[in-house]
Amino acid sequence: MQDGKAHEDRIHEDVERVLVPSAAIAARVRALATMLGEDYSHADGRLTVVPVMTGSLLFAADLVRALPQRHLRIQLTTVSSYGGTATASRGSSVVGALPKHLAGHHVLIVDDILDSGGTLRLLRKEFEDRGAADVRACVLLRKRIPSALGTPCEYVGFDIDDEFVVGYGLDYDDLYRNLPYVGTLRKDARRS
Ligand code: IMP
Ligand code: MG
Repeated sequence: MQDGKAHEDRIHEDVERVLVPSAAIAARVRALATMLGEDYSHADGRLTVVPVMTGSLLFAADLVRALPQRHLRIQLTTVSSYGGTATASRGSSVVGALPKHLAGHHVLIVDDILDSGGTLRLLRKEFEDRGAADVRACVLLRKRIPSALGTPCEYVGFDIDDEFVVGYGLDYDDLYRNLPYVGTLRKDARRS
């Protein structure tokens, strides 16, 4: 499907509507990085960025390259909430080992989207319990629903309506993560 307004070259046929075009994402990533650069100006050498896999893969990669801090650690974590073709949250759990040596570090959790809030609440508590100097969160997207708006999150890229979205890291059954924009998925592209 072609969406003239979105100015994307080729829109995937399973995408109904482009919600956040790639140029808007790039501009917002730069603005967030500037903000983070100021807020963490005291943390050089003691900043640990924790991208939540796999959804924040693209966002985190772009964000850390735009940060003015050149001396930081990146420690991945994986949290499972949706599985496969489900599009409603089933609770969060950490998969595999949690990041290590966080004591005294300023921890920045980077996630793709804030929905039920389960992921951020879980990770924030884990990192605080591990002695982090402070823990903040940065998400690309936040749904305009009470559970998301009521979950503490210091940095938000875009507030969006409560729709299931894919692209720029976000998946449906591990597909569509590579799309350079965020868009809604056509109903007939879902298998459940
Ligand atoms: P929370 O723990 O419910 O806040 O959910 C966060 C995780 O659920 C995100 O990191 C995503 O992996 C997934 N998720 C929530 N909403 C969407 C969506 O609209 N599209 C794709 N994944 C989503
Ligand atoms: Mg995720």
